[in-house]
Amino acid sequence: MRIVVLEGGLSPERDVSKTSARLIANALLSRGHEVCVVDLYEGIEDDSDLDSLFRTGNSDPYTYTILETEPDLEAVIACHGGRRQWLGPRVIDICKTADTVFLGLHGAHGENGQVQALLDAYGIKYTGCDYMGCALAMDKDVSKMLVQGAGLRTAKWVTRPSDQIDFDSINKEIGMPCVIKPIGCGSSCGVSIVSTKEEFDKAISYANQYKQDILIEQFIKGREMTVGIVGDHVLPVIEIIPHEGFYDYKNKYQAGLTTHICPANLTKEQTQAAKDFAYSIFKILRMSSYGRIDIFFDEENDCFWFIEANNLPGMTNTSLVPDAAAVDGINYEELCERIAKESINR
Ligand SMILES: Nc1ncnc2c1ncn2[C@@H]1O[C@H](COP(=O)(O)OP(=O)(O)OP(=O)(O)O)[C@@H](O)[C@H]1O
Ligand SMILES: [Mg+2]
Repeated sequence: MRIVVLEGGLSPERDVSKTSARLIANALLSRGHEVCVVDLYEGIEDDSDLDSLFRTGNSDPYTYTILETEPDLEAVIACHGGRRQWLGPRVIDICKTADTVFLGLHGAHGENGQVQALLDAYGIKYTGCDYMGCALAMDKDVSKMLVQGAGLRTAKWVTRPSDQIDFDSINKEIGMPCVIKPIGCGSSCGVSIVSTKEEFDKAISYANQYKQDILIEQFIKGREMTVGIVGDHVLPVIEIIPHEGFYDYKNKYQAGLTTHICPANLTKEQTQAAKDFAYSIFKILRMSSYGRIDIFFDEENDCFWFIEANNLPGMTNTSLVPDAAAVDGINYEELCERIAKESINR
C-alpha cells in the first residue's frame, strides 16, 4: 500500500505525535509499504515531485526525540512566517496520491474530527474513527454527559469558561481534591490535581493557556487503568503506576518513569467487567477502528469509573495500546498494518 503518515500539526501534542508517527512509518516500511511522513502544519513547502517523497525499505528509519516538556508552538509558528492556518501547503495533494492516510496525529487537530471531515470531503481514506466519533470522544464534557446518560459511572464534574470559576463555589459543588483540565486536550496537557486555593488558582491559569473551557471534576481514589480496543477486539487491561506524582506529560513519555502492568492484576470477573465497561463506552461515543478508554478501578466499591476516551491513542514506545497489543501477541508492526488495512477495507 502507499501510505501518507500525518504527524505534528499545531497541537500541544505535536512532539508526541511526531514520535508516534515516525514509529508507525517505520513499522509500515518494515512491512513493505511505500510511506511518506508529512507534517499537517508544515506541509510540503517546495514544489517537489510528490511521488518522489515516498520511501520504501527500512534501512534509514525515521527518528524523533521527545523532550520532557511540551513544545513551544509560537516558536513553530514564527519559523513559518507567522502562519496560523493549521493545514499546511500540499497536504491534501499528497494525501490524494495515497491508498490511505495513517493519522499519527494527537490533540485537537487530529482528534476533534476536523481533519477527518476534511479528508472525507476529498474522498481520502484514513485510519481511526470518523469525524463524529472523534468529536464526541475528544470533548471531555460531551463524552462524560453521554457516558453518564447511559448509566455508567464518571466523576461528578462542572465545565465552565475560565472567567466563571472560583475556588469557593467549586469547593462546594465538587469538593477537594479535584482535577482541573481543558475540555479538549490530551497527554495531560493542562491537567492538574489540586487541594488548596493556591494550587487551584495556579491550575486554572495553567489550564487556561489552552484557551478552551475548563472541566473540573472529583478526584477518583483508585487504581488507574486503561483499555485499548482494535476493531471489535478488546485488548488486555493495563494498570498504570507512575513512580512519582500522577500520570503527567513527563511520566507518559520519558522511558522508565511509569510501570505498566499488563494484564492488570484483577480477578477474571473484574477483568471482564473492565473490558465490557470500556467497550460499551467505545460504542456509546461512536468510536470505531481503534481507540483507548481511560478508567479508574475503585477497589472499595469494586467498580470502574470513566475518565476519558482517546480516539488516536499514543503509539510511542512508552504508549499503552502497543503494550497491550504485544501482550495479546500482536506486535507493533502487525498492529500498524492491521489499522492501515482496516481503513482501506471500510
Ligand atoms: N477524576 C480523576 N481522578 C483522579 N485522577 C485523574 C482524574 N482525571 C484525570 N486524572 C489523572 O490525570 C491524568 C490525565 O487525565 P486525562 O486522562 O483526563 O488527560 P488527557 O490529557 O486526556 O490524557 P491522555 O489523552 O494522554 O490519556 C490521568 O491519566 C490520571 O492520572
Ligand atoms: Mg487519559
